[in-house]
Parts: sequence; C-alpha cells; structure tokens
Amino acid sequence: MIEIKEITAAETWPLRHKVMWPNKPFEFVILPEDEDGLHYGLYEKERLVSVISLFKFGNEGQFRKFATDKDFQGKGYGSKLLNYLMKEAKLLNIKYLFCSARVNAISLYEKFGMKVVSDVVRKNGKDYVKMEIVLNE
Ligand SMILES: CC(C)(COP(=O)(O)OP(=O)(O)OC[C@H]1O[C@@H](n2cnc3c(N)ncnc32)[C@H](O)[C@@H]1OP(=O)(O)O)[C@@H](O)C(=O)NCCC(=O)NCCS
Repeated sequence: MIEIKEITAAETWPLRHKVMWPNKPFEFVILPEDEDGLHYGLYEKERLVSVISLFKFGNEGQFRKFATDKDFQGKGYGSKLLNYLMKEAKLLNIKYLFCSARVNAISLYEKFGMKVVSDVVRKNGKDYVKMEIVLNE
C-alpha cells in the first residue's frame, strides 16, 4: 500500500541524512527554512521511503531535499512523489517552480517538463544545475 501525505520537517530529516549526506553531521540536513516549508512523504506499508520539501515565496516555489531510501529507489516512488508535489504546487498557485538539481537527477526532472537554466555549479563536492518549470499557464 502506497500513501503520500504531508509530514513534518523533522520527519524528513533521517531520510535526508541517510540518503543525501550520510557523511555529514545530522544537523547538516536541517534547514533554517524548514519551519516555513511544506514537507511530503511517500509511505510503503507505513514505512516512510521518500521525502521532498517545498518552499513557497509568493507565486514562486522551490523544491529541495528530495530523497528516496536506497533500498526503495528505482521503483517509481520518487516520480510519484514529484508528481504529487507538482499538483500541490499548482493548487497553491505556484506559477514558477524551480530546484537546484544534482546532475544525476536532471533526466528525471526533464521527464516532468523541467528545463536546465544555469551552468553547472559545484557545492559541497557535488555538481548542481538550476532547473525550472512554469506551472498554471
Ligand atoms: C532522485 C531520487 C529521489 C529519485 O527517487 P526514486 O524513488 O529512485 O525515483 P524513481 O524510481 O521514480 O526513478 C527516477 C529515476 O531515477 C533513476 N534511479 C532510481 N534509482 C536509481 C539508482 N539507484 N541508481 C541510478 N538511477 C536510479 C530511475 O532509473 C529513474 O530514471 P529514469 O526515469 O530516467 O529511468 C533518488 O534516486 C535519490 O534519492 N537519489 C539520491 C539523492 C538525490 O540525488 N536527490 C535529488 C537531489 S536533486
């Protein structure tokens, strides 16, 4: 059974840490902006396996910290969660959605219609590009 629902920031932190930054201290994945964000989780049989966070500024939105537990990657859960996030963003009247994408995730975001709009930037040892999509046209 798959369920997607809004969760608290604190509920995202263990997966963010385990999947994205296992070699950094736990506090590294806690964002100052977390308390102002919306956080979503995908559960398989009541186990939280994928998380993503959305930050809204007026009619713009940014998603961050998208992570699926390694043992559950490649099963389409990330795509389901991203699809849910995009629907939510539309309901929240977000017109312009962007993210700072790890380069390994570019092809996934392109499938959702997002476009690369920056050069590659290196941060904390990883390569990123900015990607965006216009919603609610
Ligand atoms: C990006 C991520 C959240 C996608 O979640 P997911 O549940 O695996 O998503 P899906 O199963 O829907 O697969 C999405 C794509 O990732 C690919 N993928 C999934 N697991 C993978 C793995 N272990 N190795 C390589 N590619 C993988 C899939 O093949 C698919 O690509 P495709 O659509 O081009 O075939 C997940 O791979 C992840 O947590 N990665 C590490 C953290 C990260 O890079 N986050 C994104 C930061 S911008």
